[in-house]
Amino acid sequence: MGNPRSEAVTPDGAADFVPARGGVAALRRAAEGCRGCPLFQDATQTVFGAGPEHARTVVVGEQPGDQEDREGEPFVGPAGRLLRKALADAEIDEQEVYFTNAVKHFKFAPVKAGGKRRIHKAPSLREMSACRPWLDAELRRVDPELVLALGGTAGKSLLGNSFKVTESRGVLLYLPAGTLPATAQSRAGDGARGLVATVHPSAVLRATDRKEAYRGLVTDLGVAARFLT
Ligand code: URA
Ligand code: SF4
Repeated sequence: MGNPRSEAVTPDGAADFVPARGGVAALRRAAEGCRGCPLFQDATQTVFGAGPEHARTVVVGEQPGDQEDREGEPFVGPAGRLLRKALADAEIDEQEVYFTNAVKHFKFAPVKAGGKRRIHKAPSLREMSACRPWLDAELRRVDPELVLALGGTAGKSLLGNSFKVTESRGVLLYLPAGTLPATAQSRAGDGARGLVATVHPSAVLRATDRKEAYRGLVTDLGVAARFLT
């Protein structure tokens, strides 16, 4: 085998790499070798979801950041720390949460041409749909009661391209039918999985009024917490 980075991107996105059998660990192993879109070429590694196999809640972010790319774990950087604090303030136990992203490789550009510092770039619609089979597979394996969508990219990935976080944040929505197999009964009992959207924690970090933005995030997470009790 040659250098994996020189290997071609597959035309059908991640679907060719998703194993039919096995749990989240099998998915994670298979995702290490994904070439479903060009993002694997420049990133350090695949940053797959992490958390309990049957968590009650799945948090979906956008894509790994600089620190996540280096460490191989989701939400370990500044936005992740803020998110974990907000979850705790909303009384959601992070030990019961599975954390993942709409896109599994870090997309970036150097801050200065040839420089070392890397700045995050939003994934394209094409990259989001190429990566979507991984998120689908995770949601099927974990089968959570509630999905928390962080920001526009996660919301669009789960609810469609017309999703707007400003319009839909902090209200109880439902995961569209078909995202999970119809035969899988939700542990919530009625077959429907809740979905709450909120802002991305990195938007809180960038906000002019950070305190206010943080309060808004915790308020939205409170809607999720009430659904879970
Ligand atoms: N932002 C995300 O959306 N995901 C991460 O894993 C880290 C930061
Ligand atoms: Fe595969 Fe997703 Fe990485 Fe693209 S971003 S190579 S689809 S894991």
